[in-house]
Amino acid sequence: MARLSSLFFGLLAALLVSAAPAPSALESRDLLGEIIDALGIGLVTGINATITLETLVDNQLSITFGAQNPLIFELTLDSVVSSAGINGTEYATFNHTFTKGVVVPPLGTANSGIVPNVTLTQGAINSLAIIPLGYLDILNIDIHLRALTIDGALGIPLTITGLHQKNVTTTYTLALS
Ligand SMILES: *[C@@H]1O[C@H](CO)[C@@H](O)[C@H](O)[C@H]1NC(C)=O
Ligand SMILES: *[C@@H]1O[C@H](CO)[C@@H](O)[C@H](O)[C@H]1NC(C)=O
Ligand SMILES: *[C@@H]1O[C@H](CO)[C@@H](O)[C@H](O)[C@H]1NC(C)=O
Ligand SMILES: *[C@@H]1O[C@H](CO)[C@@H](O)[C@H](O)[C@H]1NC(C)=O
Ligand SMILES: *[C@@H]1O[C@H](CO)[C@@H](O)[C@H](O)[C@H]1NC(C)=O
Repeated sequence: MARLSSLFFGLLAALLVSAAPAPSALESRDLLGEIIDALGIGLVTGINATITLETLVDNQLSITFGAQNPLIFELTLDSVVSSAGINGTEYATFNHTFTKGVVVPPLGTANSGIVPNVTLTQGAINSLAIIPLGYLDILNIDIHLRALTIDGALGIPLTITGLHQKNVTTTYTLALS
């Protein structure tokens, strides 16, 4: 209960601060990021990766991921830069701007839709060993989002940087035909 009310006031403060002029922007995004980290609920619920024959050639694959919103108002994700791996070694990275923002309802979940061009930093062949593990650690995630959106429109733009999340369930599909 104490946690929820401090969350509420923290968010209120974050939103008030972020609505204020530029100098406060840094404090507000740190605060919202800290609140989400403190909640102990990762933003990412799972990852599906699709490996094709081209993946073996260009070291790129496409993924979808699930996003969850621990907050009591709608969030819309506009872009995500992320790095994921195992034991602190980066295996995959992407920088994706959603053509249409991903609307995550209050206390709800949403699917990212296809994120193409995820780069396998260690190369496709060297990454085969991590497939059976069935999970990835998100080493870093920076998100541009809008808080308090209405069906994905309007809202207060915020940048959250430096989130991480261990042990995100990852499913691989081989589409080799
Ligand atoms: C992954 O794929 C499964 C089966 O198609 C689906 O049920 C699940 O929602 C997908 N998860 C994500 C995060 O895209
Ligand atoms: C990760 O680290 C653990 C413990 O140090 C080790 O057992 C495991 O083999 C490592 N996995 C990979 C994929 O490097
Ligand atoms: C991600 O892509 C955007 C647009 O292409 C670019 O402005 C930004 O610098 C990139 N960020 C990183 C961390 O590569
Ligand atoms: C993905 O990469 C390919 C080639 O590397 C490029 O042609 C394509 O435009 C990229 N797609 C996106 C959505 O960035
Ligand atoms: C990852 O989470 C699964 C449950 O989702 C659990 O069974 C497993 O032990 C966890 N692995 C690590 C390395 O934390």
